[in-house]
Order: sequence, then structure tokens, then C-alpha cells
Amino acid sequence: MKKQDCQDTEFSEILKNGYSRRSFLLSSALLGISGLFNRKLVGFELNEKNPNFPFDGIPSNIKDAVTLPSGYDFEVLLSWGDPLWSKFPQFDQRNSGTSYSQKGAFGDNNDGMECFSIEDDRCLMVVNNEYTNSHILHQGRETKNAENHDDHQKSKYAHGVSIFEIKRKESRWELVQDSNFNRRITVDTPMLVEGALKFDKRLNFREDTGKNIVLGTISNCGSGRTPWGTFLTCEEGFKGYFSTNQKNYTPDDVLKRYGVTRDGYGYKWHDFEERFDLSKDENDLNNFGYVVEIDPFSPNSKPVKRSALGRFNHENAELVLSKEGKVVVYMGDDGHGEFLYKYVSNNLYRSGKDSSDLLNEGQLYVAKFYPDGKGEWILLNPDSTGMKNPNDILLFTRIAGTAAGGTTMDRPEWVAADPKSSSVYCCLTNNRKRTKEETNEPNPREKNKYGQIIKWEPFDFDHAATKFRWDIFVLAGNPKVHQDERAGSKNITVENMFACPDGLRFDKEGNMWIQTDGNYTNTGDFEGMGNNQMLMADTKTGQISRFLVGPKECEITGLTWSPDKNTMFVGIQHPGRDGNSNFPDGRGSTPRSSIIAVSRKEKS
Ligand code: FEO
Ligand code: CA
Ligand code: CA
Repeated sequence: MKKQDCQDTEFSEILKNGYSRRSFLLSSALLGISGLFNRKLVGFELNEKNPNFPFDGIPSNIKDAVTLPSGYDFEVLLSWGDPLWSKFPQFDQRNSGTSYSQKGAFGDNNDGMECFSIEDDRCLMVVNNEYTNSHILHQGRETKNAENHDDHQKSKYAHGVSIFEIKRKESRWELVQDSNFNRRITVDTPMLVEGALKFDKRLNFREDTGKNIVLGTISNCGSGRTPWGTFLTCEEGFKGYFSTNQKNYTPDDVLKRYGVTRDGYGYKWHDFEERFDLSKDENDLNNFGYVVEIDPFSPNSKPVKRSALGRFNHENAELVLSKEGKVVVYMGDDGHGEFLYKYVSNNLYRSGKDSSDLLNEGQLYVAKFYPDGKGEWILLNPDSTGMKNPNDILLFTRIAGTAAGGTTMDRPEWVAADPKSSSVYCCLTNNRKRTKEETNEPNPREKNKYGQIIKWEPFDFDHAATKFRWDIFVLAGNPKVHQDERAGSKNITVENMFACPDGLRFDKEGNMWIQTDGNYTNTGDFEGMGNNQMLMADTKTGQISRFLVGPKECEITGLTWSPDKNTMFVGIQHPGRDGNSNFPDGRGSTPRSSIIAVSRKEKS
């Protein structure tokens, strides 16, 4: 199911006649991939003693545990199924609960998250619950799938967004049950559509309200936040929730481009609700695929779908300000050969002033990367796309991106902007579908199994600029197994190697944190890489060091900090997806996605 999308690594045939690792890097440099505005790819001389990191990098491992460097410790903050209100029951280890318990509990498969400060020792956590693993969610059912209406409701409530207050008691962060801020947002929650698609007839608005209201958000992947204190949740793999029993159903070309298939992810929501049945009304699909803004401090507010930011597999939304003060949102579309986008507001952000139009009125661009290290943001408008109705550009943004000549990328995941400079980075996680003919300079490897992180620098250090310079920060790879370009760039060693970068964040000091969603078999092309992990990168030297290894069969995704920055909250998504973990509750227990709180050990 979702595994195909979010991991997407496979043991396909080993490349023949590849470049030697060194000649690949040199040829990259000659082509201008490196050295135009930095020389990181070819210039790294790694110091194995890790002098530039505040911790000693740890080896990979395949333990069913969270491993951290010495001097650091963690506690579990919250796990899937933990009740946010005291009247709901504790998680049931035998059957994963009911729709009732799930509706009052933390959702499954936590992903992007943001911590909003109330006071130093109190804050609001807003956390995406991206998807579920049916064989675990429905472990009490013979089919391991929804067998009745209650199971279906449970499945829906395990998705969405969870909002909850946490407070620090002595040195430990804990959930505040029954806080007035606690809230679950699901695929049943009414929300507004704003921007040009407000009232577009190709969306299905709730007729009973006569307003621009649609029902629900789904497949909430990465996150973002605004300077005015709201959360951005990104609808990624929405197509997978639509399916049908109609045997001769065939999606048209536009739906195919959006990845629609008859069976979707196999959740079978169409068996219980017509709006998820592809054979009924395909406009229901058009209600999803947006960046959705949520005000966590107003528990009764309706989330807002911001259609001006386009419709595609939104990974995350990295919001920065231009020199002048325009709102700029960088966004990846996580699909094979899909694009990077940028939104720039028409008006300026001014602290304390009305910000309500800033994510409604603006321009949308697609990225084009030239071989010589230059790049351009191409404005998506009727001229560049040939799409006469501007609303079509927002509704079918992928089609617009192709028409405008965007550069196909190896599955853009999180984008992160360096707070200490104007540089921006994006994880290109992998792309098994890239053929040799389709390779290009920012995506230089066919059947890319390991992924890379790309970097760009806007012209004049201004995020609103339409020109940029780009470079590859790191090509992930496995130098233990391969000697050619699959070994990765020179800042990859047997000690720090990883596969499939996905989550990406900067801390306030300008350290870059890389989270992985790779193949965790520790064999073949992935021998020695161990479980998924989180690493820290020094973007000045290119050095990378492993900070955390997750439990078996998890992905590491989601990262935020406490108001005083002394605690780092890290997401452990789907431990034991293949049945081999009991994280976090131990032997014999159901594996549960969790948020952990990581901090330095107190000196005794
Ligand atoms: Fe939900 Fe592309 O990760
Ligand atoms: Ca992924
Ligand atoms: Ca991701």
C-alpha cells in the first residue's frame, strides 16, 4: 500500500558500466554541478573524529530501540492511540481500539509537527497523522482490514491532525489531557477553501451550507508554520484513499498523472462512503491535494485549504520572507519525476497586521534547473502553460508544471531554508523510475535508490527572485557495497551512510537535520545502513554525522523543538511495519508510532 510511495526502494538490477566514483564527481564538477557557488561536493576532507559536531556520531544498527549518542536521552511523549481526553480509554493492545477510542486519541503514523509556545514550559503540539497500516490498525480482524462501519470510522479517525497541549513537569514533557486546546481534525472536519478555487464547480462543496465548505483533510504529510502563528498541513498521497469496485474503471490521463488507480492504497473506504468511490463522482478527488492552514490557538476555527499554493502531492511547506517582506513558500511534489514549486505572495507580511490574504493572492512558480548550475522559477500562468483558465493551473498543477517546462526531480520531499543564510535545501528521496535517458544534472543517477539533497541560492539572496544557482549538497549512497556513483558523494562514508533522505529541518543554530525513509533490510544495496535514522549536517563543511537510529522498520519523520530549544521532539513513524517491532511498549506489544522527546542527560 503506502509503502510503495513512502519507501519506494527496491532491489532492481545493479547498474553496469557505471562511472568510477571519482570520475563521476569530477565530471559533475566539470559540468558545473559543483563549484559555481560552493565547492562542497568535491572539496570535503572528512575528519573522522567529528570535531565540528556536539556529539560523537553513532554507528548504524538494527536494534528494536532508539539509539542516541552518549550524553543524550529520550522519553516517549505520546504514542498512537493515547487518549487526549481523560474520558476516553487507554489504547487496547489486543485490537487497537474502536472508532470511539480512536476519535479521542492521538492519530497513527505521526509525520510533520510543530511546537507552538504558550509559555516556556507549556506549548501546543500540532502533529500530522499521515496514514495507517491496516494489518496493525485492524489486527483484531481476520481480513486485517475494515470489516464494518465502526472499523471504517476508526480508520478515518486514525488519520488527520492531532493538536494537544504539553507541559514540562520538572524535566519531563507530558501531555495535558483535557486541555481546551486539544483537538482532532479528520477527513470529516468541515473546512474552508480559499483562493481562486473557492466555489470552483469542480470541487464538491457542501450543498447544505451554501458556503465554500468541504469535508476533511487526508494524507497529512509534512508541515510548515507561518509567522502569524498558524500550522500548515500538507495533503500528499490523497489519491490512495479513492478507489472503486467497478472492474472496468479506468482513470483518464489527468487522473493517471495524479496517480489514481482502481484500488488506491487498498483501504476500501469506497465500500463505506460514496465520496471515496471513483466510479461515482471524481470531483470529490478535487477537494484534496492542498496546503491547509490551521490556527491551533482557536480550537473552533475551520481549517482553510489554500488553493493558491496549487494542488499536487504536497510534501511540506517551507515558509520564508523575501527581502521586501513577501511570503514565499517552497514546496515539493512527492512523485516520481515531479517538480519543485514556489509561491510568492502579492502583498507584504507585517507583524501584527492583517495576514488573511497572504496565502490567497500570489504567484505560483515551477523550478527549472539548467545543467550549468543556474536555475529559474517559471511563473505558471496562461502564457507559460497554455491553460486558458487560471483555475486549471491551481487544480491541475502537475499538468501546468509540465507545460511550463519544469525539471523532473527524484521525488521532492521536505524543503528546508537555512535561517543563517538564504540557502534552501530539498531532499530528493529516490526514483526507481528514472531511466538513463531521463537523467539530468540535479538527478544524475538512473534507478536512483539512495536519493540526494539539492541546494539552491536565490539571486541576490532574495527568496522572491526568479533566478537561482544550484548545487548538489550530498548524493546518498553505499560505499561499502558500491565503488561507482552509487557509493555517493565524498561526504558519504561507511560510517555515516544513509538511504533516502526525506525529512529536513534546520535548528536555530543553522545545523541541518536529515531524516530517512529508506529500505531497512540492511542487506544487498543497503548492507550496513541499518534502520532508518536522523543525521546532522554542517552545511559549511559538508560533513554529516549520525545522531539517532530508530527502531526496526520505522521511518524517522517530523522534528520540532521546545520553546527553550533544549528538547528536540522527533517522530518515529510506523515501527514494525513488517511485524518485527514492539516499540515503544516492549515485548509482545503492538508497535505504535510515537513522538519522542530527546534532550541532553542531566549531569549528576
Ligand atoms: Fe509522506 Fe513523501 O512523504
Ligand atoms: Ca518518503
Ligand atoms: Ca515524507
